[in-house]
Amino acid sequence: MSTRIIRRLILKFHQSNQRCIFMTSRHQKNSPYRTRTAGEKGTKIAGSSSMSQMAASKHENTTSIHQQMVDRQVLYPAQFKGAGDDRIQQVNKINEGKMVEIIWKDGKRSKFHSIWLRNNCHCPCCKIDVSGQPTVDLTEIPLDELHITDIDHTEENVLKVVWKDGDKTHQGYLPSSYLKTYCYSDGEMERKSNAARMNFTTDTKIPEIEYKEVMGTQKGLYQWLRILGDRGLCMIRNVPTEQDYLLKVARLVGLPQHTIYGNTFNVIDMPHASNAAYRSIALKLHMDQPTYESPPGIQLLHCLRFDDKIVGGDSVFADIHHIVDVFRQEHPDEFKTLCRVPVTYETLGYEDAAGRELPVHLQIRRHVIHLNNYGHVVAIAYHESVNGPLQVDEGDVEPFYKAFQMLVQAVHTWPYKYGVRLQPGDMMTFQNRRVLHGRAAYVSNGGKRHLHGTYINIDEFRSMLIYLQNTVGDGSPIKRMGLLDMY
Ligand SMILES: [Fe+2]
Repeated sequence: MSTRIIRRLILKFHQSNQRCIFMTSRHQKNSPYRTRTAGEKGTKIAGSSSMSQMAASKHENTTSIHQQMVDRQVLYPAQFKGAGDDRIQQVNKINEGKMVEIIWKDGKRSKFHSIWLRNNCHCPCCKIDVSGQPTVDLTEIPLDELHITDIDHTEENVLKVVWKDGDKTHQGYLPSSYLKTYCYSDGEMERKSNAARMNFTTDTKIPEIEYKEVMGTQKGLYQWLRILGDRGLCMIRNVPTEQDYLLKVARLVGLPQHTIYGNTFNVIDMPHASNAAYRSIALKLHMDQPTYESPPGIQLLHCLRFDDKIVGGDSVFADIHHIVDVFRQEHPDEFKTLCRVPVTYETLGYEDAAGRELPVHLQIRRHVIHLNNYGHVVAIAYHESVNGPLQVDEGDVEPFYKAFQMLVQAVHTWPYKYGVRLQPGDMMTFQNRRVLHGRAAYVSNGGKRHLHGTYINIDEFRSMLIYLQNTVGDGSPIKRMGLLDMY
């Protein structure tokens, strides 16, 4: 029997005997978990303290708390690969136990509120195994009474805590890697927000990767997603020119995101199509589907055919986040207007020529630019051709149109556009919420241009990128990708 299975059996046995330690003060008096009377500052509980008695329990003798968390799957060490040095030097109670200060071995300091720690307790009573879902009922915790009576840390850097509120006591623990990663004191939140800023470049060469590399290994997959995450776009070269390969690639990341255009779509010239994309006319730079509350995250366009006799039809891409970054500096008032006054985006199809099963009336009023609480741009929704009836206060109509017009102008005149004539076997992949796409008009001359496309949900893309960053990569934080994540 493997060590892991034996460990699991032992753990299961102990979990069945495990009690969640909620004690009244009467019980606490004679309990090994009783409150210490140590000084508030610099409390380093060692030797014969109550914490040591806790550590002497049968459970902990067989498996360390750290290993228990790993076995219960509420702690994945790889998840915190980027935490840096998470060894605890010292822990102190401060503010009469309302807070805890951790001094790390690297000299950094973090402070945590007792309620934050209580809410994130990793003990078996407070987190469900495997999912890590918290079971703490916050309404049962009187905030003004909650305080920490004991703290300590194990050799494996697990913070052990005893909380008290009224006559109830709870004993639990949190891993140090979790605490180092989610530290929020001393300006750390703003630092994290800064670290998530996108990197902009004036380099207009589209980064690329070989299909075989993407499909062959997890490192290759990571390489593709990393480029896509950092730069916003990546060309996959030499993909076989058959229909199936679009979804083969997409499914490395997640299921295709369904929209009114289906799970996949074919961009070909259909002279009577209601959507301009399905004609041979020029397409201005835009993002797809801003009429959805959650627009697609990643777009994949697989070029199956692009005959030489076709004149025109080159694809063009531009980073709207970079454009807005410059726009903010050059037109601060209009920038503020687009953060404040909502645009209306609308897509109609009551009797759609493309033969959709259901009629469509998508309509949303949203800000063109979204900021987080540090004033950093987190999301942009831009499409100059699907803006519907503006629904704003009378006094905002002209300021909105002025600002929107100026942004459209900034997009049209942007000097750092990526241009490419797709070749059969190219699969252009890009962040739909970051990189706008467009196309020059073309004349077929009897030739055929056929792009097969699909979308991937932004959350699933981000999820896979974080996973790979923590397992194959170096665990460093990933950049923003235009979703309403407030980091
Ligand atoms: Fe499009």
